[in-house]
Amino acid sequence: TELLKIIQGIPKAELHLHLEGSFEPELMFEIAKRNKITLPYDSIESVKQAYKFNNLQEFLDIYYAGAQVLLHEQDFFDLTWAYLTKVHSQNVVHVEVFFDPQTHTDRGVSFDVVIKGIYRALEKGKSVLNISFKLIMSYLRHLSEEAAFETLEASLPYKDIIDGVGLDSSEMGNPPSKFEKVFKASAAQGYKLVAHAGEEGPSEYIWEALDILKVERIDHGNRCLTDEALVKRLVDEKIALTLCPTSNVALKVIQHMNEHPVAKMLDQGIMATIHSDDPAYFGGYMNENYYETAKALNLTLEQIQQLAINGFEASWLSESSKKKHI
Ligand code: HPA
Ligand code: ZN
Repeated sequence: TELLKIIQGIPKAELHLHLEGSFEPELMFEIAKRNKITLPYDSIESVKQAYKFNNLQEFLDIYYAGAQVLLHEQDFFDLTWAYLTKVHSQNVVHVEVFFDPQTHTDRGVSFDVVIKGIYRALEKGKSVLNISFKLIMSYLRHLSEEAAFETLEASLPYKDIIDGVGLDSSEMGNPPSKFEKVFKASAAQGYKLVAHAGEEGPSEYIWEALDILKVERIDHGNRCLTDEALVKRLVDEKIALTLCPTSNVALKVIQHMNEHPVAKMLDQGIMATIHSDDPAYFGGYMNENYYETAKALNLTLEQIQQLAINGFEASWLSESSKKKHI
């Protein structure tokens, strides 16, 4: 359609993408086979059947199970490379991707294996597909702060290739404040800071991410609109929200796409951007996220372009690189 063509034609930046969430069932089966691991599914169809969620936790359980087949450097390379070739076809020209080291190190896969595979693919994507990148390691918030400190320690030999740290996994009951010390220590190592907040959790968690963790972007942040003072803060300080509309529908953060807050956020002057979160599980990469949102909310061309511009604005590209894309 016309709308899809317009979206396809706009160069885009992806700032909220979990590499483990880009693991398509086809590749999962292929890697499981070569690693001699039996999946609890007998076909790709039955995998897709299992991808029905009522909340974040139901998704996370399946997402962590899927990641179990990743064992070798080549597996992490293949995962990342598949993602990059996919988004290249969607005119994504810059990515800032998350990985969850603890999902792998807790199974005995070393930090080195994970990051070497991912980084080799990102470098290839830069040279072959001309996709620039930043890499963000996320601490799993359902685990302890002590465990996050161990991950920080393990990352230090690679701190030149890791740009920032994030905070993901089960939000309710695991407020940002639980990770105050490790975020402070991460900043001291030169890492930039982001955190998931206000996806299922209350607006207080967004305040904590800003005031206690001192993050520069909020991942999701859907729940901010109920809090006028918070909206003012986000607008005044140009704090970006990396929204993921298809994810929100899939995890029932909202009941229907036409309830998505992104249009209201733009109206109120919030630096809102659109991303895909876990596209293999939620059924939408960048273009589908733009398309579904634009269609359901009747976004204008100006609003669609603003979302894409905001993606570059909120990125960690240098000011001169941003200018080339905007
Ligand atoms: N929220 C929290 N943790 C996650 C998500 C998410 O949307 N995706 C992958 N890990
Ligand atoms: Zn996410």
